[in-house]
Amino acid sequence: MVKHALFAVFSVLVLFLLGMFAYREQNPEWKTYQAEYYKKLAQAVNDPKIAGTPLKVKQVWNQSLNRADRCTTCHGGIDNPAFENEPQPYKTHSNFANEGYISKHAFEKFGCTICHEGDGQAVTVSKTHGVVKHLDRQLLTGPYVQTACTKCHYELYNPEVYWPEVETLMEGKKLAVELGCVACHAIKQFGSNATLAPELSAMGSKTELSFYLVHDFSRIESKDHLTRVWEFEHFKDPQKIVPGTMDAADPKDRTPPTIMPNWGLTDEEATALTVFTLSLRDPKVERIPREYFPKLDEHDEFLQYRQ
Ligand code: HEC
Ligand code: HEC
Ligand code: HEC
Ligand code: HEC
Repeated sequence: MVKHALFAVFSVLVLFLLGMFAYREQNPEWKTYQAEYYKKLAQAVNDPKIAGTPLKVKQVWNQSLNRADRCTTCHGGIDNPAFENEPQPYKTHSNFANEGYISKHAFEKFGCTICHEGDGQAVTVSKTHGVVKHLDRQLLTGPYVQTACTKCHYELYNPEVYWPEVETLMEGKKLAVELGCVACHAIKQFGSNATLAPELSAMGSKTELSFYLVHDFSRIESKDHLTRVWEFEHFKDPQKIVPGTMDAADPKDRTPPTIMPNWGLTDEEATALTVFTLSLRDPKVERIPREYFPKLDEHDEFLQYRQ
């Protein structure tokens, strides 16, 4: 009897799970978002027919950048100025309407991941947002998006240049100059070739994996073992993260704590320096085609370190 009852319960469970998979297959989350977008659009332009638009995965395929971004599958209103007050993922992009600076980067040409990184191919929220396991280029949000601007806007390293659009990066640049990072680190963007400490010129172009493999995360407080997290905590307290091994049994294995100074930085300052460090890109890795550079002639002096 008990066996039969168990079998019955088991069968119902299997049927339920199968049904759920079938339902998920037919109704992936992007369809729900897209259908809702068309409903909102139909209301906005007062044309009920639009609500019935067939649903499909949308993609900006960008051959010269070698990217195919599907973000607009869900972020339907991203370039529609009428969606300023809608919730995510329908909302108009900030600084897009009224010819804001984001609109100078036509989404049909630039896509999204050129600035936001992340997995452009994925079409679920969990695979595109937050911390995604084993993803080498995590989605950039908040001030971290500013680490991508320098792929193209080299003039941002000019000490004379201040852009209010990238406030955090500008704060990081200012601190980097004031605190004299170039005394120890090679930062080609600043014309420094110092050799007391690791070169930073290409920090922003490292993959998560290549960083993870050569850095010790055992003293990192955050559970997110990401490059930007390590760097933030290292800026806050370098000797805590790199304490050396003075207590090693064999004197030959002993290394002193890092000489990188602890400046007692605030969280904002440590974030700004992290954004600055991750903005330091290697053009050979990023491989941005020349037609994506603004004002080419003004860039020549910043192109010298590309050779
Ligand atoms: C399956 C639908 C879907 C796809 C595909 C998608 N998004 Fe989103 N996105 C959402 C939703 C829903 C939110 C709001 C989530 C929240 O606030 O928790 C969101 C929020 C965001 C945010 C704000 C998050 C924050 O923390 O500030 C950014 C930035 C973003 N998406 C960028 C992207 C980019 C870039 C892509 C493509 C690589 C993408 N999204 C693909 C559904 C999607
Ligand atoms: C030129 C670079 C650039 C491009 C291209 C770009 N973004 Fe953004 N995005 C940003 C910046 C900068 C922010 C602001 C982050 C902050 O300050 O919070 C942002 C913020 C967002 C947000 C958070 C809400 C908001 O509007 O501030 C979402 C969602 C988003 N982007 C989605 C997208 C999607 C989807 C695409 C592609 C269709 C895209 N972005 C293309 C730079 C870009
Ligand atoms: C892939 C290259 C690329 C990236 C990445 C990029 N931009 Fe641009 N940006 C351009 C190009 C090209 C123009 C010029 C467009 C034009 O002339 O109409 C431009 C124009 C601008 C402008 C208008 C001012 C001007 O000189 O024309 C601002 C402001 C700007 N970008 C800020 C940003 C910010 C902030 C980011 C990072 C969030 C960013 N850009 C990322 C290529 C890029
Ligand atoms: C007195 C020399 C010194 C100064 C000044 C200094 N650093 Fe460092 N830094 C080091 C040393 C040595 C290391 C390697 C050991 C460690 O990780 O702490 C290091 C490591 C780093 C790392 C990790 C690099 C990697 O690949 O592991 C970053 C990022 C960094 N420094 C950024 C900065 C920035 C930004 C500044 C300026 C605000 C700065 N440093 C100033 C000596 C210095």
